[in-house]
Amino acid sequence: MGALEGKIAIVTGGASGIGLASSRRLSAEGATVVVVDANGAGAQKAVSELGGVAVQADVGNVDDWSRILDAARPLGGVDIAFLNAGVTTGEEDITKVTDEQYRRIMAVNVDGIVFGTRAVVPELVARGGGAVVATSSLAGIVAFSGDPMYTLTKHAVVGFVRSVAPRLIEQHITINAICPGLVDTPLIDGQIRDSLAGVGFPLIAPEDVAEAVLGCVLGSETGQAMVVQLGREAVAYRFGRPPGPRAPGVEGRIPPEWLADTGPAAPKPAG
Ligand SMILES: NC(=O)c1ccc[n+]([C@@H]2O[C@H](COP(=O)([O-])OP(=O)(O)OC[C@H]3O[C@@H](n4cnc5c(N)ncnc54)[C@H](O)[C@@H]3O)[C@@H](O)[C@H]2O)c1
Repeated sequence: MGALEGKIAIVTGGASGIGLASSRRLSAEGATVVVVDANGAGAQKAVSELGGVAVQADVGNVDDWSRILDAARPLGGVDIAFLNAGVTTGEEDITKVTDEQYRRIMAVNVDGIVFGTRAVVPELVARGGGAVVATSSLAGIVAFSGDPMYTLTKHAVVGFVRSVAPRLIEQHITINAICPGLVDTPLIDGQIRDSLAGVGFPLIAPEDVAEAVLGCVLGSETGQAMVVQLGREAVAYRFGRPPGPRAPGVEGRIPPEWLADTGPAAPKPAG
């Protein structure tokens, strides 16, 4: 018996790379997978290997989420959502980013997570709880200047997950972000792949990311940004605490998360 016997999982971007490896991993644990992808033939191919249901959909299109849920309902509902579909712009120079590139990456990488979470939460509640995992990136934590638009969207995913998580706890829903370094998938284009190979920089296997996704699904941690790096266990990133306001008695009057650091002031420079 697998750990996910009888569970239904939606995986977006499930036709390729991390999504395909995760569909395989969840399926190997007994889950029935709804493979969602803009590439309908790719989704169909995954389903012919794994069983489950294929849905050709654009995760950035809000109307497509009704169709995705309609595909899951005959299976019994949704227990797991791996919101993973994503794209890059490949553009380093902000002055060259076109409106289309900007709108597309925001739609897939941000709207896809927001619309997806909003759509699946009531479904998970109806099943007594469940797990959402959203694919961010290491670029969701570090300032990756090679693609600022990508970095923007992946930071958005981390902030969204961390801030949505607390209210979902009482509904027995976990939500975590997965933040891999460079993974060996078609997203890494030939030129980058060649230059990485040239300096002997190894890529992470998508199966290793899938293992971390499974860890999030099975675990009780929530609101975490799980960093996945080559040769390491997935680890929750520990965010630093920004300075809080300093005023007499302020501690009791503002939310504790605003009071990150009320320690003593740094000494003023002499003179
Ligand atoms: N490959 C990496 O190095 C790496 C690192 C960190 C994070 N990521 C993230 O991992 C996720 C998966 O990427 P991957 O590396 O497996 O790439 P991939 O290109 O192999 O897979 C992405 C899949 O998403 C699908 N997709 C794209 N736009 C879509 C849309 N609007 N609606 C539905 N499906 C859509 C594609 O058709 C493709 O099958 C992305 O969010 C990516 O940003 C990748």
